Amino acid sequence: MARTHIIGTGSYAPAQVLTNQDLERLVDTSDAWIRERTGIQERRQAAPDEATSDLAVQASRNALEMAGVAPGDLDLIVVGTVTADMPMPSCAALVQAKLGAKRAFAFDVSAACAGWLYALSVADQFVRSGQVRRALVVGADVLTRAVDWTDRNTCVLFGDGAGALVLGAERDAEGDAMAPRGILSTHLRTDGELANLLCIPAGGSRTPVTADNVDANLHKLKMNGKEVFRFAVRALVESTQASLGVHGMTTTQVDHVIAHQANLRILEAVMERLEIPKEKCWLNLHKYGNTSSASLPMSLDEAQRAGRLKRGDVIAMMAIGAGMAWGSAVVRW
Ligand code: ACO
Repeated sequence: MARTHIIGTGSYAPAQVLTNQDLERLVDTSDAWIRERTGIQERRQAAPDEATSDLAVQASRNALEMAGVAPGDLDLIVVGTVTADMPMPSCAALVQAKLGAKRAFAFDVSAACAGWLYALSVADQFVRSGQVRRALVVGADVLTRAVDWTDRNTCVLFGDGAGALVLGAERDAEGDAMAPRGILSTHLRTDGELANLLCIPAGGSRTPVTADNVDANLHKLKMNGKEVFRFAVRALVESTQASLGVHGMTTTQVDHVIAHQANLRILEAVMERLEIPKEKCWLNLHKYGNTSSASLPMSLDEAQRAGRLKRGDVIAMMAIGAGMAWGSAVVRW
């Protein structure tokens, strides 16, 4: 049976840098507090004329170039995002048009910061089933347009970015000592009872955007940071242990962790509980903050381009976001 292999990675971060010092001028915060409590030093902000699909297309082009795949050869495009250019059509449809990927069917997946991992899982099913040979899986968000710039509890955390992977249906080469390679499995979980921990109350069918709702800032992101923190640590640890267990693996066999970059303290707590040396976790949140769905594919692309990923390495991926929605994946490079 064909397995899903990762044949190209790409990422894109907008040029505009927003430092902690810049935020000190906006809200009652300090560079020291943000660094100490989150590990973030700066983040990127999309230009006024840049929307999520623009970031997604840049990342996608980089991934397609690495894979040596022409847009016209793509069968499927899945975009994980909660900040599509507009409520409809999907961001994926706009990406498809801009890339000229005429053969590909395209749709978005909504799972907040776990959006890309969910998108990866969906695309993996299509590839494994044989329905799709080449897939593009994008994580892209412009959360700086969704945060409340008067709320110091949230505005210091998020940044904009995009990451993309090209997936291909490949068979392991005969006698490959590293086989099986590619995406070994994905594991997704949701607990909608926790929806209120992290949400954007207005802008949907429950509370449409009206002048009153905008005045009340209901179209901006609300979060119970403390509860999200506690839940995230437990969920990411349990999910990763479970996904490795399916393959009879333990955390000692993990060579790299590619994790959602929400808060350095969350990642340190997760790595400690999993008993994985923290040097194995790729970190870029000091540069980008929490880029939501873009976080994992951007990290993977950076690690790949830095020459860190060697053939046969085991990669544990993990992400969590609003929903709450979370999950993990085991990949052999
Ligand atoms: N600058 C200065 N002080 C601040 C700031 C700030 N930016 N933000 C909060 N504080 C204050 C609080 O008001 C509070 O003051 P008080 O004690 O007088 O009330 C104090 O700092 C401590 O606040 P806590 O909330 O206890 O701070 P904590 O250490 O929990 O850190 C944080 C807050 C960074 C939000 C943390 O809880 C966190 O990272 N949570 C997880 C968030 C997350 O990962 N969200 C994304 C999920 S993924 C997705 O789908 C988008």
